[in-house]
Amino acid sequence: MNKRPFLIDCDTGTDDAIAILAALYSPQIDVKAITSVNGNVAERYTSQNNLNLVEYLGKSVPVAHGAVRPLLGGVLDTEGAPDTHGKTGLGGIQLPTAQRSFDPRVADQLIYETAVECKGELELLVVGPMTNIAIALCNHGDLAGLIKHIWFMGGACQGGNVLPTAEFNIWADALAGHIVTQSGIPMTMVGLDVTLKAVMTEEDIAQLRGVGTKACTLAADLLDFMVRRRDAGGEDLVMHDALALGAALCPECLTCVDAFVDVEYSGTYTMGHTFSDAGRRYPAGKPNASVALDIDVPMFRKWLVETISRSKAEE
Ligand code: BDR
Ligand code: CA
Repeated sequence: MNKRPFLIDCDTGTDDAIAILAALYSPQIDVKAITSVNGNVAERYTSQNNLNLVEYLGKSVPVAHGAVRPLLGGVLDTEGAPDTHGKTGLGGIQLPTAQRSFDPRVADQLIYETAVECKGELELLVVGPMTNIAIALCNHGDLAGLIKHIWFMGGACQGGNVLPTAEFNIWADALAGHIVTQSGIPMTMVGLDVTLKAVMTEEDIAQLRGVGTKACTLAADLLDFMVRRRDAGGEDLVMHDALALGAALCPECLTCVDAFVDVEYSGTYTMGHTFSDAGRRYPAGKPNASVALDIDVPMFRKWLVETISRSKAEE
């Protein structure tokens, strides 16, 4: 089987890490590179988490640094959301510090060169603020035509988690969100109103722990952190980012509809709002995205546990 080439752009992040684990062990895709961005925590942490993670798993995927600040958006203090992901992003889990080096290219260059190498077949999994992708589009005029599809976790048809109408990834760099959604690249939006339903359980943790590989044990440890976070009144065991990967690799998990999507990057109360005419009550433009509306939760959980459990074949 020809594996689909993917590049992951992320702000790792506990749930980003679980999405990366699933991507690295999925038989359907070949992860060509991981690029890091400021978001959940500062870029110096997200990039180091990415590098540590791939080396810990014995993978040779290139990891690059990326944007340390947004073009225009909410995360300016570079300390992000330590309550949700722990101070350095992995919920207090300390992976061994990687011995290998970062790819010498900064995110936008690595994204571009990977897209050129993949000759129009590259798909992007974008699960943090969209700064790196927007910079890449601004620096490389032909990039949009070289990306086959963007699968992103961000925005919401309704609601938000940092403002009443704004989700974190998009709010954290609203201008980047606007640039990317208007790029003409085919894309699928997996928004917060759907990802909030993608909740794992203690049963899933037990199943992963039972497999006993490094990948499954790490996933179980990350989920255990989320159990403690939930029990302390914080977010549940929500798989925001892995669900965007699920849209690409297990599309039966989701119900989607074509819609026009754009991001409000100015506005006193609405900066970072993803306008989506998914209901087509107020059609605002030609559909430019497939937008997730609902999820089959048991099917998604099964897919995620099984995909990470494939690490068994490599250990
Ligand atoms: C998004 O923000 C982060 O906390 C998660 O990693 C996810 O990408 C959810 O709003
Ligand atoms: Ca994320």
